[in-house]
Amino acid sequence: MVTRRATVVGTDPDVDLGVKLCGILLATPLIPAAGTLAKETLGEVKGVYGAMLPKTVTPRPRAGNPPPRVAEVSSGMINSIGLQNPGLDRFLENLTDYDVGLPLFVSVAADTVGEFVAMCERFAGEERVSAVELNLSCPNVEHGGLQFCAGPGTVREVVAACRVPLSGKPLFAKLTNEGVVNNAVAAEEAGADAVTLINTIPALVLDPRERQVSLRGGLSGPAIKPIALRAVYEVSQVVGVPVIGVGGVTSGTDVAEFMLAGAAAVQVGSGSFVREPQEMLEEFAAYLRKNGLRARDLADALTER
Ligand SMILES: Cc1cc2nc3c(=O)[nH]c(=O)nc-3n(C[C@H](O)[C@H](O)[C@H](O)COP(=O)(O)O)c2cc1C
Repeated sequence: MVTRRATVVGTDPDVDLGVKLCGILLATPLIPAAGTLAKETLGEVKGVYGAMLPKTVTPRPRAGNPPPRVAEVSSGMINSIGLQNPGLDRFLENLTDYDVGLPLFVSVAADTVGEFVAMCERFAGEERVSAVELNLSCPNVEHGGLQFCAGPGTVREVVAACRVPLSGKPLFAKLTNEGVVNNAVAAEEAGADAVTLINTIPALVLDPRERQVSLRGGLSGPAIKPIALRAVYEVSQVVGVPVIGVGGVTSGTDVAEFMLAGAAAVQVGSGSFVREPQEMLEEFAAYLRKNGLRARDLADALTER
């Protein structure tokens, strides 16, 4: 297998951070989780992340949900952004914004299978785009949300339909935790090249004084890490395609844990709001060095299953 050594400022040049994901070489296994990287920080991503992944784009612009949209909770946060984005046309017009010297992955969501396919058709011919991640698992929108992860039947239908226009590009299916093993198997059978696990977990915040619901949204952060880790571990034992781990990563040890559990690459979401991903990468490199391992070896390095 061909890999390249990462040239990461602050990490040991002798540590091999490179991984291969669906034939794409990533200089590091870190990827920003969809929707969590501020556009203002695009200049800082090279050398830290192995690929770029912007916020989910939908066929038409979405204003998102009304405020409040975020709440802090123990060991995490709840968000209800509702896929706010400028829509596909504007996204494509500004695609060069993401020319940061990294492979570009795009995340897409839609209300119907036909719209998913139409979006994939548009990206199929985009040279800049290295892979497409289908967001089948957003808990914060009425349509085009969790219904695509309702069960293996719907997962299979949407993945198989999107596979057709994207015959030349890797296709990832991002799944929710519920039913994750069966849904991941269905995604693989329908032609997904990788599965991304997991999206936020449906959650609720109440205001006891006002006796009102303050926020319904998706829980992310350290609170969901053990759940995400289990999803990655169980799914990677039953599918042959790579698993991309996401959920609660805030340190280099977390990255190592996801890769030991079977992840080929790891996305960092809300953790990047509280810690520098660069620091997480340095910690991960230190872990590899201490244990005499390369990033790509970790999936086979777990001594006991
Ligand atoms: C503010 C915010 C916005 C998000 N937007 C998206 C999105 O646009 N598309 C998507 O697939 N996931 C979205 N997510 C989910 C993350 O990509 C990730 O799956 C989830 O937060 C779990 O990872 P974490 O614990 O590292 O944050 C969002 C999460 C947060 C916190």
